[in-house]
Amino acid sequence: MAGDKYLTFNNGQKMPLIGVGTWQASDEEIETAIDAALEAGYRHIDTAPVYGNEPAIGRVLKRWLDAGKVKREELFIVTKLPPISNRPHEVEPTIKKSLADLQLDYVDLYLIHTPFTLNINEDGSFKVDAEGLLEVDPTTNHAAIWVEMEKLVEKGLAKSIGVSNFSKDQVARLLKNCKIRPANNQIEHHVYLQQRDLVDFCKAENVSVTAYSPLGSKGIAAFNAGAGIVRDLPDLMDIPEVKEIAAAHGKSPAQVLLRWIIDTGLCAIPKSTNPARLKQNLDVFDFKLSDEEVAKLLALDKNIRVCDFAFFHGVERHPEFTFKNQYTK
Ligand code: A2P
Repeated sequence: MAGDKYLTFNNGQKMPLIGVGTWQASDEEIETAIDAALEAGYRHIDTAPVYGNEPAIGRVLKRWLDAGKVKREELFIVTKLPPISNRPHEVEPTIKKSLADLQLDYVDLYLIHTPFTLNINEDGSFKVDAEGLLEVDPTTNHAAIWVEMEKLVEKGLAKSIGVSNFSKDQVARLLKNCKIRPANNQIEHHVYLQQRDLVDFCKAENVSVTAYSPLGSKGIAAFNAGAGIVRDLPDLMDIPEVKEIAAAHGKSPAQVLLRWIIDTGLCAIPKSTNPARLKQNLDVFDFKLSDEEVAKLLALDKNIRVCDFAFFHGVERHPEFTFKNQYTK
């Protein structure tokens, strides 16, 4: 039933409950993966300029749209204002660049990617100080950026606007200073990082929540290693309670982790470039967790943040950086 597969925003727009995440999918793999995702039935695709794959995604979307295999209005495309462009005057040129790369006239949802802002050099590389730490731009003004985000809706460049990686206080502040309420906050959310206070606040304020890293994002290890960070990450698909519930339903642990997100009223954007796993992650609409199973998974919270931005060493000095990692006190 269609009603079970969508979440409705505060402005009436509908977002498919499961989208395909594309962070850490290389340019070569992404075209095949997006093709496979569309074949499998995904219509919600999550990207960002930071992921470096908008042009490749755009090529696949153009092929599908030109061939009449999908209609634009059936797609739900999400992209984001990157941390290096988190300034009012950069909002419109930045979305226009994304739209050109995606070969689209509008996106369905445009998010402020991070509450903090980083500086870059003219060649696009990050500015670093003498200690090798990333240079932050502490002048970030969410309310002023939001005014420009609202103009994107008025100009038809984005159907909905929202935020990502925002804390409860940051969302609350924005709600006090907006004409158009944020439709969505995309945050890391899984059984080991539930952020109940933030999630419950967003729900109460009718700001929908999308869970990124819903499967624990094991792939971040390679990304961390590139930044010299070695960190043991939990394997969510190996948690006994998750495996037990999966066995009871004849489903995989990944499917249980995703179904739990849906059953608690959120959307999820699992990343995969593997056709079989892409299919599996979308095949979560023929079962439901019982109240006891939902409660069992709610009890697993350990406050383990996988994407703690330690790979942006120096960002912790930004006044809007709220996460805890090895570099914060
Ligand atoms: P792959 O792309 O090879 O499928 P997250 O969405 O939390 O960031 O997790 C993505 C990671 O989990 C990727 O490493 C992805 O690898 C893997 N993954 C995605 N779907 C599944 C699945 N159904 N079962 C096991 N691993 C999965």
